[in-house]
Amino acid sequence: MKKIIAGNWKMNLNVSDSSTLIKEILKEITTTNENLEVVVAPSYLAVDAVSKILKENNSSIKLSVQDAHWQEEGAYTGKVAVSMLADLGVSYSLVGHSEQRLYFNETDQTVNNKTKQLLKYNITPIVCIGETLEERESEQFEEVILSQLKLACNNLSSEEVKKLVIAYEPVWAIGTGKIPSFEQIADIHQLIKSELKNLCKSDDNLPAVLYGGSVKPENAKEIMNIQDVDGVLVGGASLKAKDFSQIASSAL
Ligand code: PGA
Repeated sequence: MKKIIAGNWKMNLNVSDSSTLIKEILKEITTTNENLEVVVAPSYLAVDAVSKILKENNSSIKLSVQDAHWQEEGAYTGKVAVSMLADLGVSYSLVGHSEQRLYFNETDQTVNNKTKQLLKYNITPIVCIGETLEERESEQFEEVILSQLKLACNNLSSEEVKKLVIAYEPVWAIGTGKIPSFEQIADIHQLIKSELKNLCKSDDNLPAVLYGGSVKPENAKEIMNIQDVDGVLVGGASLKAKDFSQIASSAL
């Protein structure tokens, strides 16, 4: 299965800085390989500029947004409809990132609504799931993760579930420099994959499952060597072209 390396730029970089970063990334990531999919998720304001640069350079790097609304269109002040993304060449959207869940009232229901709407427009949802530190310590984390996964996939057909990408991001590992042990990552990815087998009613063509949370050039290779880890979702380190490209090349 090909590895996916996705960079989440979060609420960083204005349009000009985003353009500079994508140009630097294009210079750094020169090896294209069918076994590697590189994805960048700039802020909404920079999506158009980054899209143009990727097209001008005939790049295989794919464009993502960080969130999208589930309604078709209309009186939803401040939101962006999925239908508006397709013609900008957007291939992916994050859904249910823990910062959305924590600060902006993202619920399992809105994650499910967004996932369905993205699939309708053939944009791949990168559905983010993961436990908080409190949940990890209370030992309920496996239930939390499975429940987030099942509710995100509610009322999706098995064929639709196969089109998703899942990102396991323990909330306590995001931006903290802490990561779970490799064994813990392996356990959770195995758990997620086994639930995906149920949801997809098959053992084949399962969604890619990425790991996210404090991925750095120093740990990326080892993380990606873990069984059932199909790539990484990178925050902080994706803002530096050299770090991001090093992470991408560790997947090759
Ligand atoms: P981080 O963020 O790499 O800075 O920990 C990951 C994420 O939020 O997707």
